[in-house]
Amino acid sequence: MKLFLDDFRLFFDNSSLKIISNECLKRSEAAFQVKNGNIPKWTKAIDITNSLPKGKVVLNSPYIQIQNNDINSSVLINALEKLLPWRKGPFMFNQLKLDSEWQCDLKWQRIKKHIKPLKNKTVLDVGAGNGYFTLRMAMDGAKKALGIEPFLLFNYQFRVIKSMINSPLNALLLPIRLEEIPKVQLFDTVFSMGVLYHQRNHLEHLTQLKEMMTPGAELVLETLIVEGPKGYSLTPDGRYAQMRNVYCLPSIGTLESWLIDMKFKNINVVDICKTTPDEQRRTPWIGDNAASLEDFLDPSDSSLTKEGYPAPTRAIVVCQN
Ligand SMILES: C[S@@+](CC[C@H](N)C(=O)[O-])C[C@H]1O[C@@H](n2cnc3c(N)ncnc32)[C@H](O)[C@@H]1O
Repeated sequence: MKLFLDDFRLFFDNSSLKIISNECLKRSEAAFQVKNGNIPKWTKAIDITNSLPKGKVVLNSPYIQIQNNDINSSVLINALEKLLPWRKGPFMFNQLKLDSEWQCDLKWQRIKKHIKPLKNKTVLDVGAGNGYFTLRMAMDGAKKALGIEPFLLFNYQFRVIKSMINSPLNALLLPIRLEEIPKVQLFDTVFSMGVLYHQRNHLEHLTQLKEMMTPGAELVLETLIVEGPKGYSLTPDGRYAQMRNVYCLPSIGTLESWLIDMKFKNINVVDICKTTPDEQRRTPWIGDNAASLEDFLDPSDSSLTKEGYPAPTRAIVVCQN
């Protein structure tokens, strides 16, 4: 993986995270060695963007924008299209808009007003996708923003974005799972957004998040929920909103009780909202014939998924270690 080592060293050297760097490097290098027929195409994308002039990164809300008028947009589009589908974003390169399936700024706005400021914080973003949120954390002043995401395509997307930025932004994405990262209490804020319901063992996931947190650190947990009393959770039989690997959707009371059992403090449900087609939508950047929210819902009743379960509703819970 091009660009990886230099960026890795710059991120970990002279940082409190140095203590986990060897293990993270070993795991990441192993992940990048995995055989995947798409890797030559994804590597080509990085070769292209890495040869382009680098530019300044700014927030041009909702876009993370890279400003560089010297970029030839047809060359850039050719590179970005090699990394379809773009699920998370949006990004902008000069005036070229990459409208991803998810308009992630909406989630960030819902979260940002309820969490402790990230300025000078060391933060972990678990299940970071292509690092859109990890970049936003760094742009909000985090001292170090580490994203971990096992899905390789998303790591290539992150590298392509990072390869075009001229400043050493304090954000890094590594292709590792939460289970694999050494458990050291290093982080002031830990994010798990859209990850809990993908875990076979939700309590183990919460335990591992806690093990990464300094005393008093903040957990930002965003997950799918269902209506119901405390103690109720839905385990879909097969797919949920066409997603595989959805194991457990708790009621709010159940979710809170899990956090109490894990000895988290000051548990605060700060937001509950239904996912809308403004936030998750079909765009040209998810490729031909790709489906999105509208295709996952019952065409005659948008309050239900195609499988007949309640349509996606997400909660944000903030609590302390
Ligand atoms: C629904 S996406 C959410 C992405 C982003 N955090 C967001 O809120 O939009 C969940 C991501 O978590 C990743 N993931 C699932 N299990 C994980 C684990 N055990 N450790 C790290 N990442 C994981 C998946 O590969 C997937 O990209």
